[in-house]
Parts: sequence; structure tokens; C-alpha cells
Amino acid sequence: MRYFTQGFAVLNRRVSQWRSGVSALRHPALNPAKLCVKLVLLLLTSTATAQNLMPLPAEMHWGQGQLGWKDALKPQLSGPTDSAVTAALGRTLVRLRRDGRNLPGTATVPLQIRYGRTGNPTSFDSEKYSLRVTPMGVLLDAPTSLGILRGLATLEQLPVRDGHHSYLPEVDIQDQPRFAWRGLSLDAARHFLPVAVIKRNLDGMAAVKLNVLHWHLTDDQGFRIESKVFPRLQQAGSTDGLFYTQDEVREVLAYAAARGIRVVPEFDVPSHTTSWIVAYPRLASNDSTYAPYRLWRTTNVAIDPTRETTYTFLDSLFTEMTALFPDPYFHVGGDENDGRNWRRTPRIVAYMRAHGMVKADGKTVDKHQLQTYFNRRVLAMLQKRGKTMIGWDEILGPDLPKEAVIQSWRGKKGLNDAAKLGHPVLLSNGYYLDLNYSAASAYAADPLPADTPLTPAEQKLVLGGEAAMWTEFADSAMVDSRIWPRAAAVAERLWSPQATSQNVADMYRRLAAVSTELATLGLRHQRTPELLLKQMAGPNNVAPLRTLAEVIEPVKEYKRHFQGYSYTTQTTLNRLVDAAPAESETARRFGTLVDSVVAAGALAPLHVPAAVRQVSALRAQLLRWEANDVLLQPLLLSNSALREYGPLSTQLTAVARVLLERLTQLQTGQAASPAWLAAARATLDAAQAPAGQAELAVLKAGRKLLGS
Ligand code: ACM
Repeated sequence: MRYFTQGFAVLNRRVSQWRSGVSALRHPALNPAKLCVKLVLLLLTSTATAQNLMPLPAEMHWGQGQLGWKDALKPQLSGPTDSAVTAALGRTLVRLRRDGRNLPGTATVPLQIRYGRTGNPTSFDSEKYSLRVTPMGVLLDAPTSLGILRGLATLEQLPVRDGHHSYLPEVDIQDQPRFAWRGLSLDAARHFLPVAVIKRNLDGMAAVKLNVLHWHLTDDQGFRIESKVFPRLQQAGSTDGLFYTQDEVREVLAYAAARGIRVVPEFDVPSHTTSWIVAYPRLASNDSTYAPYRLWRTTNVAIDPTRETTYTFLDSLFTEMTALFPDPYFHVGGDENDGRNWRRTPRIVAYMRAHGMVKADGKTVDKHQLQTYFNRRVLAMLQKRGKTMIGWDEILGPDLPKEAVIQSWRGKKGLNDAAKLGHPVLLSNGYYLDLNYSAASAYAADPLPADTPLTPAEQKLVLGGEAAMWTEFADSAMVDSRIWPRAAAVAERLWSPQATSQNVADMYRRLAAVSTELATLGLRHQRTPELLLKQMAGPNNVAPLRTLAEVIEPVKEYKRHFQGYSYTTQTTLNRLVDAAPAESETARRFGTLVDSVVAAGALAPLHVPAAVRQVSALRAQLLRWEANDVLLQPLLLSNSALREYGPLSTQLTAVARVLLERLTQLQTGQAASPAWLAAARATLDAAQAPAGQAELAVLKAGRKLLGS
């Protein structure tokens, strides 16, 4: 790399004096036999040091040297003054210091940072960097300051713990993102997310190199941003009166910019607008007035696209908001409008007929044409102010100008259809964190999979993607635990080369490390569930409750709406289901253990030494679950809020008992009788039933152990 080899005379001189695995590997004149040995050593080193980088860099070569904890890093900056770099460097040094680095009185080695110019995050500017760690020092080099921010995030993930202290392993990294747009969409409308919550999530985003905060600010249940032009929007438009002042918005924008993160606001129109109409009834399609909406269902309430006053209103509001948000992109939602408000209003039906907005039969009015008309008006309004419009995939239609960016949430097809029509596109389908699917499932979703039907020209329109966190079932206290660590898997999918991220087991290993890193950054995804459990346990021992909570997950998708429990904006999210992880790590590890025991059992009896450790770990886990119900039931029965989870606790114990028997059969080489197997399967089937909108997460692995 040109920018890597220039300058830094001191470090480069030291590097060239030092013959390491890294420099040897990069030496073209090495003899093949030596290279082979080196390669094996390097492979061993890279698995032994088991690096925790996430997202994985585009290219990395591990050496065998170490930069020890006694070597204090002495920063040397070269590049135009940039407050974001200075501040990020300061944070990195504080975090590295936690590993025992930079102690006074120790030797100093250079941490050289060099960049050519200040980057502009809002123009997809270069985020490329190279990071070289040798026993002589650290060299971080990038064309722009943005690359330096990304490189510092990598540096923070590099330390390898070694007893009380840590070392930086020798490595040579050349890195750049696969996709320019790597976002996290946060719904601050359903449950308001205070500035502190947004800020700590921006820290999490920066740690895993996500670079766009998509801020969903308005919805049926709340209008969450101060408008000075239309103040009733925030005053009357929500059930709890919570919103961001414009000063707070500016504070978030500055915080994000300092981390190389752009902020794209979403003002969702024409549907999802009950809060707008509560405040300004003149916007309504059906000439009704509305009370603040306290349920979570989609209302299909929409503002009136046929009245000029609607556009005058939007023009004034968007003039105000486009000035507040500097990013060139502006999201206008456009999702989930079934048109019922329009079709049931004679005045609007007459308008559609008068303007030929009818289906092929020439008679039935076509709400999609009316929405496209609306979108075109809004797009023109935004273009006048230099903004590019983004909308959810419902806005796609043949008459939509190509400049509009389409964010696909309903399926991959939407993404491909839009790109084929010439629109820039973003993928969110597959990345909906609120559906409570696994990190592996998000990891498998790729905006440009190997079998993409898009031509190379169309592929260029794929900007990237966004993880999405809707907050009907997440409040400001526990939203972190629904976002993290799974969003880091999406971050890797969007940053790392397609070919380097196929190893799901390794992804989970690194995800666990990132999860700890995020906790030290202040994210509360680990802490809040534990606090909720302690609150529920009161003066009692929390351990049995934790044992159950660790192996249940909230029901998937949006099934919480349909299981006999009525949720409103006022419902407190402090039940066991809210403390349960979206993806149970305990259940996942149990599944991995079952897989290895089943695989070992297929080759040899399970008493051979290789399998013994895994079998004992499995047995220990099952014994803990078997014993848990007796310990937990008194608490479940004494607390009315916990009583609904009694069946899950009983089922966990019943399942564990059956699986223990199965393990003994496998260990002793006994075959299970058909009657025993049928009864065992029936036990697992019965345990499938959710309770309190949660379900046991260990049944799939349990079935594998049964052999079915
Ligand atoms: C959406 O999830 N309605 C964009």
C-alpha cells in the first residue's frame, strides 16, 4: 500500500531491522520449505491467540512477536488537526490502559498514526486503514481520519489477556469495508430512548464499525423530536410527552460525528402518523380526530395526500428538519399503508378517479398510485433542499424517480427488484433484531450473496444494509439486550469480505468476546437482564431464576401480540420474558456440546477418553436443570408476576431428566426401546408450548440427543 510504506522512518527502520513472521512472510525471496514451516507456525499462532476481531478485517497476517504490557504506547500523530481523531485516540489509550498498558516509568514504544486528510462520513469517504503491530511499536495509517477511527476500533480489540496483563500480538492488517452503508436503525418512537441510551449505542456501533444511525423519530405512538414550527407535534403527539429537544439532537449529532457515524432521521409518512394527526387534525384523511394511540398494532391511519395544505405542512416541517440534520439522506418511511383511510373517504376516492389513479380494470381505485404521487411530491421537496429520499420497500413503483433509495424489509426480492429498476438499495430483511432470531440467521443474510441475480452494474447500487431495532417490546432499560451482541454479527456481515465470514462457530466465539467489550464500553445488554432477575427474586436467591432465564427466549417474530397478553404503551417490560435473551447463549453452547457428543458417539462408545470431558460437561448441565425446578417453584408460586413461568420450569426439569437417561444409554451402548423413545419425544413435544410469551431454547438440541 502506498500510504503504508511512506514515512514513519523510525518505526519502519525498526521494522526492517526486525525479522519477524510478518516481515518474513511478506518477503518474496523466501525458500518454499521455510515458508511452509512459517505458515504452519502462523496458523498455529492464529488459532492459539484466537483473535477476537469483529468485524474480521479484509486481510490480516499474524506474526509470532508480542508487544508486551510493559511497553507504554507513545502516540505520534501526523495529519491535519482533527478533533475526532484526537478524542478517539484518547479513548483508545484509556481503554488500552485497562490492560495494564501505558504505566508510568515503563519504556515507551511509538503508536504512530498517520492520515492524509479529514474524512467526510456523509460522502461514503474512504474508511480504509492499515494497522501494523510489531514488538517495536504500532503503526496505523489511513488515507482519511475515518480510516484512523476504524483502525483504532481494531486496535482496541487486539489485546490478548495473559494473566493480569495483556499483550498486543504481532499483526499486519489491511482493511476496508465491503459495503459503504452499515447501519443500525433505532425506533425511538414506540419507546422513547433517552440521549444517554443513544450515545452508548453509538459507542457500540463505533466498536464494530457500523457507520449509520437510522433514527426512527416518529410513529403512531409518538412524535419524538421538537419542532419549533409545529410544537404541538411533540407536545400532544405522544402518550408520555417524551421527545428530544433540538439541542439534544445536536448533541447526538456531534457525538456520532466524533465517532465517524452519520445520522439519518426518519419521519415516517404517509402512514404511521396517528401522532401527527392527534396534534394537527387537519392532516387527517378521514376528517376525524384521534386520541394518542396506546396500542402497538399498525393503525393504517394516513395523512391526506390530496390536500395542498398537507404539502404546505410537510414543506415547513421538512425545511426545519433538513436544516437540523446535515446528512444528505432523509428517510420518509412509507411503510404499511394499506390505503383503507383513503379508500373509505369519498373525497379522496373522487380525487383518485379524477386523476386516473385506477387499476387495470379502469374502475377500482389504486392506492399505490396515490402513494407514488405523494412520494414524488415529497421527493421534490427534499431534493430542493439537497436531500436524497429513502423509503421502505413499499414506496417502490414504476413511476418512482430512480434517485429514491429503497430499504428492503419484507424480503430479498424487494432489494433486487429495486436495484433492477435502478434504485440505490439497502437490505434490512434478515437483520430485524426485534424478531428475536439468532445471530447466525442475521449473519447468513447477505445483501449480495454469491448467487445474486444482479448484474455488476446493478450490484453497485447495493449500498449496504441496516440492522433494525423496533421497540414495541423493548424500552430504554432493556433495549441494549435486544440489540447487542447480535448487531455485531450484522456489522461483520456488512464490513468483512464475503469469503472470510463463513465460519459460524468462530463468529460466535468472537461475538462472545465483543459482547464483553461492549459491556465495558457501557452497553447494558448484560447488566439489565441480571438486574431484572434480581428485582424479581427480591430477597430470595436469584440463581435458580437465572438458570431458567438463561435457557428461555421470547417467542419469535411478533407472536407476543397473539398469546393472550395485552400490551399497550403503558405496559412495563419487566417480566421474565424481558430478562430472557433474544438468543440463549447457554442453549447454543448446549447445542454445540450435544453435537460433539452425538458425533463422538457415532464413532466410538462415549467412555473413550476423548469424549469423557464433553459427556461430563453435558451431564453436569443436565443435572443442574433437573434440580432447578424444586429450587425455583417456591419463588414462582410466591410471586404473582412469575407464576406464569411455572410450566417452563417444570418442563425444563422433565426434559433434563429424559436427556440424562438418554446420555446413560449412549454411554453404556444401550439401545432405547421404541416405547421409551416415544415417551421421550412426547416429553419434548409437551415442553414446546410457550408460557408468558417465552419458550425453552434447548429442545432442538435435546431432539438431536434423542436421535430425532
Ligand atoms: C417496517 O418494519 N414496517 C418497516
